[in-house]
Amino acid sequence: MPKDLGVAVIGAGMAGKAHAAAFRTASALYNPVLPPIRLVSIGDVNPEFGSLAARRFGYERNDTSWQAIAEADDIDVVSVVIANSLHREVVEGLLAAGKHVLCEKPLSDTLEDARAMADAARNGSSIARIGFTFRRTPGIAYIRDLIRNGTLGKVLHFSGRYWTDYGFSPEAPMSWRYKGGPGSGALADVGSHLAYVSEFLCGDIKSISGGRLSTAIDKRPLPLGAVMGHDHAAVSDTFEAVENDDYAAFSAEFENGSGSFEVSRVAAGHANSLNFEVFCENGSAKFDQRRPAEIQLFLNDGSGHENGYRQVILGPGHPYIAGGLAMDAPEVGFGQNDAFAYQSRAFLEEVAGLSEAESLPRCATFDEGVRNMELLAAVTESALNDGKKITL
Ligand SMILES: NC(=O)c1ccc[n+]([C@@H]2O[C@H](COP(=O)([O-])OP(=O)(O)OC[C@H]3O[C@@H](n4cnc5c(N)ncnc54)[C@H](O)[C@@H]3O)[C@@H](O)[C@H]2O)c1
Repeated sequence: MPKDLGVAVIGAGMAGKAHAAAFRTASALYNPVLPPIRLVSIGDVNPEFGSLAARRFGYERNDTSWQAIAEADDIDVVSVVIANSLHREVVEGLLAAGKHVLCEKPLSDTLEDARAMADAARNGSSIARIGFTFRRTPGIAYIRDLIRNGTLGKVLHFSGRYWTDYGFSPEAPMSWRYKGGPGSGALADVGSHLAYVSEFLCGDIKSISGGRLSTAIDKRPLPLGAVMGHDHAAVSDTFEAVENDDYAAFSAEFENGSGSFEVSRVAAGHANSLNFEVFCENGSAKFDQRRPAEIQLFLNDGSGHENGYRQVILGPGHPYIAGGLAMDAPEVGFGQNDAFAYQSRAFLEEVAGLSEAESLPRCATFDEGVRNMELLAAVTESALNDGKKITL
């Protein structure tokens, strides 16, 4: 095991701060088996964002270029949390410098770049993983367990939505999220999570059909200053065209069962609603990210009279919670920031050389990131061909 690990986060925006906080929390979770974690640098081209985040989360310094982090001898582990189109250059540079890399989803903005990144990861000597954060969500991991251990059993039908509303106001400022080709909008941004969760629960998708992409608001005002995440910063009266989808929908055939999917960034009133129902041979389960500390569960007792869900409040008997919260008593509540901490912990455990048996489940590989992008590319291809069926 290394004597200690120095960590850095590139990108001090909405999700970068979640990574910065998660590395801070990671060694305080579960048993104290990690080597000391040094919080070294936050890298952001915007020095104000970088230095503020470094001070807030207790990092030693901030850097303004990814190259400074790649060259730094005191950094071993780096999260890459910047616009999707920047992932490839930065990740390849970090891997070439021997850093262990945890890259945000989607792996890149194009399939070609994602495949090149997976090649670089395969040929590199360090560990490269992608952050599909929702696999760390206790309710989702628990539903997966219920499917796999036969309590819910074989999946018949999945119905999932990821509704957000960061773009529903025409005054929401232009940002990197509105630029790129078809499928690089809501589909890449939140559809990547939903598609990943569906395969995490239901197994491989074998074909996509009924792809639909639409843009509800076709131009956006330029911001007057730097914009972080979904902030509604002050805007100018100059507009630029929106290049990608505000809304996407598609159907899928799994190896077992079928699914329907809908994602949006203009779903007013739903700031962050990843929600799904999964219907199985022995019952059904329902999850809604707005109520992350519970799931709804229906188990068919065979009487023919037992209709309806019951609420299951998640606690220490469910995945991640025992030792994964400072106070891990039942009904204390938890949320998406905790999932980032479990993800960082899993990554650090792997880098520290802990065996899989004594670790949290590993983070997803870059090959899984490519697979996820192949699914999204199939949705786009279907949408551009009047909903044609695309076999994967
Ligand atoms: N897992 C999740 O739940 C989740 C949630 C949100 C975002 N994300 C992902 O995280 C990534 C970033 O999204 P965000 O919402 O945090 O973006 P953001 O716009 O809030 O922040 C991006 C930051 O990157 C900085 N930046 C721009 N160019 C840079 C460069 N060359 N080097 C270093 N810093 C640079 C910007 O100044 C900004 O602070 C995306 O890939 C997104 O898909 C994941």
